[in-house]
Amino acid sequence: MAVLVTGGAGYIGSHTAVSLHEAGREVVLLDNFSNSSSGAVEAVRALTTPDMAFIEADLRDGEALDGVFQRYDIDEVIHFAAFKAVGESVGRPLDYYDNNLGSTIGLAKAMVQHGVERLVFSSSCTVYGQPDTIPVTEAAPTGAESPYGWTKYMSEQILRDACESLPLNTILLRYFNPVGAHPEGTIGEDPNGIPNNLVPFVMQVAVGRLEKLRIFGSDYDTPDGTAVRDYIHVVDLAEGHVSALDALASESVGCTAVNLGTGVGSSVLEVVEAASRAVGTPIPYEIVDRRSGDIEKIWADPAHATAALGWTSTRDLDDMMRDHWNWQRSNPNGFAV
Ligand code: NAD
Ligand code: UFG
Repeated sequence: MAVLVTGGAGYIGSHTAVSLHEAGREVVLLDNFSNSSSGAVEAVRALTTPDMAFIEADLRDGEALDGVFQRYDIDEVIHFAAFKAVGESVGRPLDYYDNNLGSTIGLAKAMVQHGVERLVFSSSCTVYGQPDTIPVTEAAPTGAESPYGWTKYMSEQILRDACESLPLNTILLRYFNPVGAHPEGTIGEDPNGIPNNLVPFVMQVAVGRLEKLRIFGSDYDTPDGTAVRDYIHVVDLAEGHVSALDALASESVGCTAVNLGTGVGSSVLEVVEAASRAVGTPIPYEIVDRRSGDIEKIWADPAHATAALGWTSTRDLDDMMRDHWNWQRSNPNGFAV
């Protein structure tokens, strides 16, 4: 039996493939390379087994998906494949709804048709917006502020409805801010163009591809005035997916949401300081205006993840920066040759 990993050439999917292999699971990767490259698949195979199956396909291609379920003995699925850039989603809403909802609906239908009942879905803490109470629990109200955010909100609802009446069990994993890389430094985040996210931007400054970081706002109601997030090591996140599959295998959960975060909030300046320690030189930065749409502060209450999945994060901010820097330093241009 095998686990199908959609978006398996992407940042979180590639790390999860390694953790699944280490946990003794057979893995089938699927990706259309819309935001990744074959280099990631080769790097995953080098860390695991040259035999790891990979299918290049678009999840919205029903025929291709049917072929995957016919060819492989799949009994569980982790669904990472999606477009994920908040800003881009505002300018390309129909592409985001088409890709993210079309993929999720097509995949769920194929699973039901082929009798596959266990699904782990990549959701996001973006569904909480700025919560009134921090740390935020899964019971907090949800909504969205961008087309990307709505695709996560709507996907959660679609899967909740599907699990009500169809033979489907789903864990909706709400990720906080994944950073870092596999400690070997051969897989990691390889964003297209200029990074939107803090840590990839900081690391490209460190490696000399960008001149300096712009910190968006220092007048937030936080201890040092910069915005606070719950950064989580991507390997901790990957291991959370293995725990989620184990939980699905042991009991019927229906459809349930679980935060994957550390419970620790770090400010932008704290991240910059940790990155400077990892790199060994100060990261140049300037403070500029707030970025529109940003929230002030959020971090997870991870207690439910521990109770429901038996999972807890083990890596701290220094581990995240060390491993992210190791990847960036060894691969200054990502997977590009
Ligand atoms: P990523 O872009 O690195 O990986 C997603 C992968 O899916 C890419 O390799 C892309 O080529 C593939 N893909 C997209 N549409 C596809 C389609 N129709 N068919 C086949 N493949 C397709 O992103 P990531 O950071 O690894 O994120 C994985 C998931 O986690 C996404 O659903 C994302 O929304 C979610 N998420 C990410 C973050 C984050 O900060 N990275 C935070 C919260 C949630
Ligand atoms: N930041 C800067 N300068 C930069 C980039 C970011 O100061 O060049 C700041 C942001 O203003 C924010 C913090 O660093 O205060 C973190 O920003 P990111 O863009 O790294 O992360 P966000 O929390 O804004 O959003 C990310 C993903 C979303 C996802 C969310 C929750 O981009 O898709 O985490 O998982 F929904």
